[in-house]
Amino acid sequence: MEEQRDPNHPHICTIQSVVDETPTVRTLYFNDDLISKVLPGQFAMVWIPGVNELPMSVMVSEKDGQAGFTVRKRGISSTGLYNLEVGKQIGIRGPYGNSFDIKDGKILLIGGGTGLVPLMRLITFASSSNQITLLMGSKTKDEVFFEETAKKLKQDVTIIPVTEDGSYGENGYVTDVLEKLLEQNTYDAIYTCGPELMMYKTVKLANEKGIFVQASLERMMKCGVGICGSCCVDQDLVCRDGTVFDGQHLAKSSEFGHFERTKSGILEKI
Ligand code: FES
Repeated sequence: MEEQRDPNHPHICTIQSVVDETPTVRTLYFNDDLISKVLPGQFAMVWIPGVNELPMSVMVSEKDGQAGFTVRKRGISSTGLYNLEVGKQIGIRGPYGNSFDIKDGKILLIGGGTGLVPLMRLITFASSSNQITLLMGSKTKDEVFFEETAKKLKQDVTIIPVTEDGSYGENGYVTDVLEKLLEQNTYDAIYTCGPELMMYKTVKLANEKGIFVQASLERMMKCGVGICGSCCVDQDLVCRDGTVFDGQHLAKSSEFGHFERTKSGILEKI
């Protein structure tokens, strides 16, 4: 039976396995029935004992009742999560936030880095009639991950890896490849998650073509539940009103693609 629990109360989970995706990115898997079923775009707040609490997208797992957090070691908090070994415990609040509105027909997913996590989940929520193309952007071949995972999730997904140095797949920025794709194809919807400038350009291109587009935004999050204001973008709170926003809404934003907030709330150019 589904357990009843307060999503705002940290649920303690034990790391069951760790998979290295690249030299700096790994996925930590744990058993949590509630979190394993989150919608694509939703997130959890993850408490790393003695370190900090971080907002994380939830990675799909092949195992029932299991979920993962895919983390790149960067700052103190993400490195604290990255370094956790099998058997260590974390506290999980959530799930929080809204989710992608998956349209019928031909859909295009554009992701970079750990921004691919909610797109992998989107693939599992898509209908069997969706034709999916996945554009995966990274700097170089060593940083390409989830290609095999995407194939396992849906065999007929068309995957286009793009590397900035041309060491694997298409050469250049993922948005350059997107521009070419949009010249030759039409799509019923576009979904993106990853570096903000990539999402900004994706949303702009899709809006210009009149294609429905949604982006999952990332911001500094302290509370995750709409109280602290650390995640605001214009009048929106990413934790409460997002993480997913429509392209038409983002087109009116003065901050999306231009500014983010530091820990102390100061606006800083992206
Ligand atoms: S993280 Fe506190 S309001 Fe969004």
